[in-house]
Amino acid sequence: MNVGIESISFYSSHYYIDLKTLAERRNLPPEKFYQGIGQEKMAVPPPDEDIVTMAANAGFNALKNIDKGKIDTVLFATESGIDQSKAAGIYVHSLLELPQNCRVVELKQACYSGTGGLQMAFAYVHTYPQRKVLVFTADVARYGLCSAGEPTQGAGAAAMVISAEPKILALDAESGFYTQDVMDFWRPNYRDEALVDGKYSVRVYLKALAESWTDYRQKSGKAFAEFEKFAYHLPFTRMGEKAHLHLAKTVGVQNLTDDQLLAQIRETLIYNRITGNSYAASLYIGLISLLENCPRDLGGKNLGLFSYGSGCVGEFFSGVIQKGYREFLLKEEHKTMLESRTELTCDEYEYFYTFPLPSDGSDFELPRNKTGRFRLAALKDHKRIYERVP
Ligand code: CAA
Repeated sequence: MNVGIESISFYSSHYYIDLKTLAERRNLPPEKFYQGIGQEKMAVPPPDEDIVTMAANAGFNALKNIDKGKIDTVLFATESGIDQSKAAGIYVHSLLELPQNCRVVELKQACYSGTGGLQMAFAYVHTYPQRKVLVFTADVARYGLCSAGEPTQGAGAAAMVISAEPKILALDAESGFYTQDVMDFWRPNYRDEALVDGKYSVRVYLKALAESWTDYRQKSGKAFAEFEKFAYHLPFTRMGEKAHLHLAKTVGVQNLTDDQLLAQIRETLIYNRITGNSYAASLYIGLISLLENCPRDLGGKNLGLFSYGSGCVGEFFSGVIQKGYREFLLKEEHKTMLESRTELTCDEYEYFYTFPLPSDGSDFELPRNKTGRFRLAALKDHKRIYERVP
């Protein structure tokens, strides 16, 4: 039995800042952002957009051709939690009118947790092939104004339906993992911006990749040359390029030039380059970017994926892109969303970034900005009130 992704969609904020604009304000050469880290635009969520509204928008599209009655499990992966107790997925479950005989859980392990959710869904559907699992990954990446991490911020959500009818990607059973207790990136409960040891985090990412690959190779017996394409966690697109060249070097690939190697990941970078880091969602937005932008039909080809979450956990896993997958992509919806975005000035970006939401529990109505189908309308009696956008 094949189990994997039956439907997949993503959503990113309606607003963005061009990194040329940010570079000018920070007195840095724009090439540092455009070439050095490989990012052009960074999604900036307005105050009435958060992980719930972004995930609900991604889920709305992913569920278009799915019988919602079959979904009995919702897994919501995030490191931008909005409550210490209640799972963000319950708000989304309600906004998307999912069946009440359903379990909903929130998962956390930095940018990795969506992959943990995907693997749990894979095992669950193997046991109950009639059922479907909805996996969300959603995050807002924040490092602070003027910090080194600032150009690697962003926001986005992906939603995937995992079932025994994997019209897009059938997952392989074997995967390789790696865990090590390190402090490369973390966010204590009292902060809403991450703390990061940037250069160290890049080194740990690469180590976790090599270790996960070795574990994967031992368990699966699959070789690097069997993969047509690769998709990586993309905190910034240059990281994906560094990672792929590092893996090829570790494996000892000799018959491919750097250009040929980079062609194996090129299309995965397109959407992330203009949305920025979306932590847990970024690997899956990269996957959608590959499937929607590769001019060649990849049906029947092997895909390797690497998920990384600081702290740290890495996992290398794989799947077979399904024949006819293109028919089930939501390319037009994604294109329209990305093309209708609004560019912000640096002042507008800083205004959204520092918007003073009350932290003392006072009631507050949020100003209306352009969001997707859902928005955070108010904070009332210590509760978050979401609404549909008419
Ligand atoms: N023209 C072209 N390139 C330029 C340039 C210019 N004028 N000026 C600098 N560059 C290049 C540099 O040579 C460098 O390239 P290499 O890495 O290939 O050497 C690159 O631009 C970055 O410049 P710096 O080395 O000066 O680095 P920085 O101090 O600006 O920090 C960063 C870069 C560490 C990525 C920082 O943005 C950061 O801390 N980001 C957040 C952490 C992060 O994303 N870590 C990734 C791994 S952890 C992870 O993946 C989990 C997660 O999602 C957070």
